[in-house]
Amino acid sequence: MNVIIAPSMLSADFGRMYEQTELVNESKAGWFHLDIMDGVFVPNISFGFPVVKAIAAKASKPMDAHLMIVNPENYIERFAQQGVEWLSIHYEAVPKSRMMKAISLIKSCGMKAGIAINPATPVEVLIDYLHVIDYVVVMGVNPGFSGQKFFEGTTEKVSVLNEMITAAEVDVMIQVDGGVGKSNIKALYEAGARCFVAGSAVMSQSDPKQAMEDLLAAL
Ligand code: DX5
Ligand code: ZN
Repeated sequence: MNVIIAPSMLSADFGRMYEQTELVNESKAGWFHLDIMDGVFVPNISFGFPVVKAIAAKASKPMDAHLMIVNPENYIERFAQQGVEWLSIHYEAVPKSRMMKAISLIKSCGMKAGIAINPATPVEVLIDYLHVIDYVVVMGVNPGFSGQKFFEGTTEKVSVLNEMITAAEVDVMIQVDGGVGKSNIKALYEAGARCFVAGSAVMSQSDPKQAMEDLLAAL
């Protein structure tokens, strides 16, 4: 099955980051999901380049950075330098007049480009960008914290987005981030999502490797 589980390192034990990175390397995870928060776009601050560098030093799977920050353009190159391969920026964080340029910058740095949308943002805003991006991050929670309750309307958004992608005849992957777990992963897959970020459902569990297998088994 062509599915990617991307554990969010925000839910990892930061006192044991090397071990936790190794654990993801050895698990069924497809990617590392790195949540970057600035305390401005979202009401929380996560981690920055020193932590990304520590993870990158050990990671043997692609890193996917989710920038929940204003002015993401100022940092795109530095994420590429750290070895990040997939990079998403928020639709709500970048003025429309700058979005195309920001996407071009991500791609010119050799990374895959994604746009993330908050629960309140309709998928229709993406119509102008589907031909230039590689993935969409449909947020299942308001960005800022792991462990929040999933917005049920997310599944329908994924389904509508999937229809838009098919109609546009483009190759754009749908990632769902926030509130993903055993109870909703199958419905999200059936709606068209292929990449699933999992924070608390995986990294906060006593056996994260098993938790990833359980998630895949729920599909
Ligand atoms: C939320 C982050 C998510 C979050 C996922 O702002 O973007 O990646 O860490 O955590 P869970 O899976 O616990 O909702
Ligand atoms: Zn995220």
